[in-house]
Amino acid sequence: MLYFTQVSTRTFLSFQAACKILGIETLDIRNASTSSERKGESVEDSLRTFSSYVDLIIMRSPISGLCDRTAKNLDKTPRSVPIINAGSGPDTHPTQAILDIYTIMRSFQDGLEGKEVCFVGDLKRGRTVRSLAKILCLFKGVKMTFVAPKEFYIEEDLRNKLKAANANFVETEDFKGSIAKADVIYMTRLQDEYDLKVNSLGEKKLGCRTLFALRKEDMKTIKKKSIVMHPLPRRAELDPAIDSDPRAIYWRQERNGMWTRTALISMIFGVDQKLLNGEGI
Ligand code: NCD
Repeated sequence: MLYFTQVSTRTFLSFQAACKILGIETLDIRNASTSSERKGESVEDSLRTFSSYVDLIIMRSPISGLCDRTAKNLDKTPRSVPIINAGSGPDTHPTQAILDIYTIMRSFQDGLEGKEVCFVGDLKRGRTVRSLAKILCLFKGVKMTFVAPKEFYIEEDLRNKLKAANANFVETEDFKGSIAKADVIYMTRLQDEYDLKVNSLGEKKLGCRTLFALRKEDMKTIKKKSIVMHPLPRRAELDPAIDSDPRAIYWRQERNGMWTRTALISMIFGVDQKLLNGEGI
């Protein structure tokens, strides 16, 4: 079941493609307004319903924590099926972190020790940044630099997690200086879809303006062996003129999403070893 009630292009399509590669049939809901949630059904009941028809739920929702909550709820029912979090509000995006770390590891075959990863953009609400930063804590000797205007700095909870993990990290507004030293430049866009939500609750709206942007001329100042990543979609923060630079690997990164998700699903169904051994499934 592909339950995507928040917009998605890459994550939805790469999961769907991954299922096709593995010979898995899919059902999907991409808009809660076409489901019984329109009739007042709770999202919890909708998700329990899916478990009657399918063997795996892959879900993306604008509600932070809904995926974890659903998994715990389903575990209390007689028909619990695995759930993959394909993006949970501004909170987490674990499969993006898997494809990102895979892309980084493939790019630096000598390992990540001593490497500097520079995150740029809306670090406050960028869930890909939050999930990747947590994975990077598991690698020894990695330095993380978080570059953003002050109002888009990482949230306190992530800062505390990084401190608790003894991660080597800095937060700065110095874009040019940071990208010049970085081995990985991880650009992100402004997550202004969450501004609307904040407004309807009557809470403070964050300033909607362009974040730091990586331009063609910046490529002259960054390391020869660095890589430029972006979870996509991009806006003005990443100049398309960079696309042809060999250090720009975001299109490969996007494709890696399909393969890492294929691997993840094959593990969930316990067929990964069979596939590795070249046996049919
Ligand atoms: C990201 C997302 O949806 O969190 N995109 C993705 O999954 N590839 C990043 C974004 O929307 O900015």
